[in-house]
Amino acid sequence: MRSVERIIVALDLASQEEVLATLDRLPDVEFVKVGMELFYSTGPSLIHLLKDRGLKVFLDLKVHDIPNTAAGAMGSLSKLGCDLLNLHCGGGFEMMKRAQEAVVGDTKLIGVTQLTSTNQRILNEELGIPGTVEASVLGYAQLAKEAGLAGVVCSPLEVKAVKGVCGSEFLAVTPGVRPLGVDRQDQKRTMTPKEALQAGSDYLVIGRPILADPDPHGAFCRILEEIEVVA
Ligand code: C5P
Repeated sequence: MRSVERIIVALDLASQEEVLATLDRLPDVEFVKVGMELFYSTGPSLIHLLKDRGLKVFLDLKVHDIPNTAAGAMGSLSKLGCDLLNLHCGGGFEMMKRAQEAVVGDTKLIGVTQLTSTNQRILNEELGIPGTVEASVLGYAQLAKEAGLAGVVCSPLEVKAVKGVCGSEFLAVTPGVRPLGVDRQDQKRTMTPKEALQAGSDYLVIGRPILADPDPHGAFCRILEEIEVVA
């Protein structure tokens, strides 16, 4: 895979106008992520618009519901023709299996393990899940693999372990990527783009380090240069 295809730019924006203006400033981008804020404001038409522009699309709606509802959601969403779709592994095995069975076309379904904003204290004290973040991520990854999912979303810190347990073909999509010198903001489990790729990440999801830069194209190109050394 070419390095440019490995960077998924998170379009954490509020409207179609902002997306179009942003894409004009990012001519080299090939893979984008549409999250809740944007999808809930634009609806499915934006996905068609992005696909018509030749972009690959990760629709990041992090579905988490009873198996029947999650499966229905995946049936509807996969019809939009996006390349990646996700749900929360925390919904359990049956939810993931039923959701996977409902996916149509070439869309790949991946599971969110633990959010990259969750650290050890939050996991244990707020979520009430004992053990380490890595153990929780690995447990979810194994369950996702057994349910037939194509991979997981995890932090770069857990990629090696996930690949070790689930195999190299099992996709690891990693947010929580921060180039050196860039603020971590709310992300707690981070690595640089180069480190994430060296750890085995298939795709790097990067938002604010590109979109919040005064020169988004420059920021994107610097990340691309950094990872091209690894690829
Ligand atoms: O701006 P930043 O690079 O932190 O954006 C990361 C993106 O990845 C956000 O859109 C966020 O919703 C998403 N994400 C995440 N952690 C996950 C799953 C998705 O940060 N576990």
